[in-house]
Amino acid sequence: MIRRKIAAANWKMNTNLQEGIDLYKKLCGLTLADDVDIVICAPATHLYALSQIAGPEQVVLGAQNMSNEESGAFTGEVSGRMLTSIGVTYVVIGHSERRAYFAESDELLGLKLKTAFSHNLVPIFCCGEALDIRKNGTHVSHVISQIKGSFKNLSPDEVEKIVIAYEPIWAIGTGETASPEQAQEMHSEIRKHLTEAYGSTISNVVPILYGGSVKPANAREIFSKPDVDGGLVGGASLNADSFSAIINSFN
Ligand code: 13P
Repeated sequence: MIRRKIAAANWKMNTNLQEGIDLYKKLCGLTLADDVDIVICAPATHLYALSQIAGPEQVVLGAQNMSNEESGAFTGEVSGRMLTSIGVTYVVIGHSERRAYFAESDELLGLKLKTAFSHNLVPIFCCGEALDIRKNGTHVSHVISQIKGSFKNLSPDEVEKIVIAYEPIWAIGTGETASPEQAQEMHSEIRKHLTEAYGSTISNVVPILYGGSVKPANAREIFSKPDVDGGLVGGASLNADSFSAIINSFN
């Protein structure tokens, strides 16, 4: 079973509109490996303008968050319908920064996943443990419980369409990366859980991305692991040269 390879950029709350356009145009102008899907998760304010820029087919847009609600009096929120109406295809759900700073719970994230699927958006569901959990050795059960907590109302058909990103919190923006072995261990545990819960036909097609200080210098080794299907890249995605080097790090 061949899983899609994905290089996803999470720009977080960086760039103004012009800077975002310039960066996106540079990426679209690069020679990109054509067997890699490239997802640019730009700030919500940029997505419409970026959708109007012609680029290679494998470059698509993602949002960094969305509301679990359909519409109505939810000041400041962005709905799934708004995102699909401007050509967005992916949405990051449950980034550790949303969990930490905006108190997003496993349960709320489960609702967001349902809403994303109802709009045909592909969720990139993030999970990952903090340093104290890694140190006390309960990282695998912690991550599996995040997945169980948010996936419990998903149908097998929905799980088949999801993308999972394992992002250990201690490796995000710190310059410290999980070793390729640590990434592989967690990814294979996640896949094992998916096999137990949904069967191997589904677990074999779900791409599992690694995130946390992915850089040109470490991407190739991490991506070479059998259960690592790509990366969700923060800081290094804000520079076209470093992100393109990461895109070209698949073997
Ligand atoms: P960095 O690549 O900056 O560590 O960020 C990772 C991340 O949070 C991607 O979502």
